[in-house]
Amino acid sequence: MNIQRDYPLKELNTFGFNIDAKYYCRVASTGDICQAVGFCRDNGINSFVLGEGSNVLFTGDFNGMIIHTGFEGIGMVADNPREIFLKAGSGIKWDILVEYAVNRGLGGIENLSLIPGTVGAAPVQNIGAYGVEIADVLHSVEAVDLLSQKEVVLSAKDCELGYRNSIFKSGMKGRFLITSVTLRLSRYPELKLGYGNLFEEVKNTGKSGFGVRDVRDAVCRIRRSKLPDPGVLGNAGSFFKNPEVLPGFYEDLKNRFPGIIAFRLPSGNYKLAAGWLIETCGWKGIKLGNAGVYHKQALVIVNHGNARPDEILELADRIEVSVKKTFGVSLEKEVNVI
Ligand code: EPU
Repeated sequence: MNIQRDYPLKELNTFGFNIDAKYYCRVASTGDICQAVGFCRDNGINSFVLGEGSNVLFTGDFNGMIIHTGFEGIGMVADNPREIFLKAGSGIKWDILVEYAVNRGLGGIENLSLIPGTVGAAPVQNIGAYGVEIADVLHSVEAVDLLSQKEVVLSAKDCELGYRNSIFKSGMKGRFLITSVTLRLSRYPELKLGYGNLFEEVKNTGKSGFGVRDVRDAVCRIRRSKLPDPGVLGNAGSFFKNPEVLPGFYEDLKNRFPGIIAFRLPSGNYKLAAGWLIETCGWKGIKLGNAGVYHKQALVIVNHGNARPDEILELADRIEVSVKKTFGVSLEKEVNVI
C-alpha cells in the first residue's frame, strides 16, 4: 500500500475545496488498514476515514492521514423465498448499488436513488430520502475495529441508526472502518410513494403498473430538479438536519406562522422542515462572498466558486442565528465538520 504526502483533496470533498491532506492512502484489505493505523500510531498523527467526501466540510488542510476506502464488489450472499441479501464493498458508489438492485427488480433502496457518496458512508449517516432510510433494509455491516485491528460484524441493531445518525457518528466515532454493507432486499417490492409529490411523478409516466425502475427514475427526476449536482456546484446535500420539537412548541409556532411545514413523528413530536424555516428568514438564493444558499432548496449551502471553508461556515452561522431569533429553533448541522 502506497502512503502519499501532501495529497490534494479537491476531488475528495463535494464542496470542492482546494485543500490537501498531509498523508493519504487507499485501503482495500484488512492488511492495508493495519498498515495505515500503524503508520499513524508511529508518527503520532490523526486519521480520518473518507468515502467520496459528500457529507464532510474540511475546515482547512487535514494535518493527518486520510484513509480512503477502496473495497469493491457486489454480490448475493444469501436468500430466502421473499428476500435477497446483497453485500457491497464500502468503496462502491452508493448509486451504483441502487442501479444494481433496480436492474434485478429488487425492492428497498429505489427511493434512495442518486444520493452522492459511497456504500460505506450510507450507514454512518443513515442516509434517507423520499420516505425511506437505509435503516429499513440494513442487515449488517462488516468493519475493522481500528483499536484492536480485528474484523467485526455489526448487526443493524448494533449500528443504532437514528435520523441521520448512528454509532459511527456518535459514541463510536472514528472507531471502525466499514469494509462492506449487507442489505436485505425484497423479491416482491412494496413501493413507497407517500412522500411529497413522488406518487404524482411516478404516475406521470402514464403506465398502468409501476415497478422499482419507475420509482428510481421518478426520484432521479425530482432530485435533479431540486438539488444541485456537486460536480457542477459544490455542496454536501442538506447542510442542516430537520429539527424535532415538542408538540406544545409546535402548536405555538403554528399559531404564529400558519404556513409552517412540519411532519408529526410517531413519538408525537414534530419534525420541522428546516428548508422552510431558512427560506422564511429570507436566505434562499442569498450569496455571501463565494458561499450561497441554493436558490431551489434553502437547506443546501453551495460553493459558487472558490469559497473557503470559513465562508461556508460563516454563512451557516448567520443562518443558525436568524432561525433561532425568528423561530426560537436551534439548527443542528448534518454535515460532518472536520
Ligand atoms: N421547503 C421549503 N423551502 C425550501 C426547501 C424545502 O419550503 O427551500 C419545504 C418543501 O416544500 C417541503 C419540505 O420543506 O414541503 C421538505 O422539503 P424536501 O422534500 O425538499 O425535503 P427536506 O426535508 O428539505 C430531506 C432530506 C434530504 C432528502 C429529502 C427528500 C434532511 C436533512 N434532508 O430534505 O436529504 O433528499 O428530505 O426526502 O433530512 C441529505 O440528507 O443530504 C438530503 C438531501
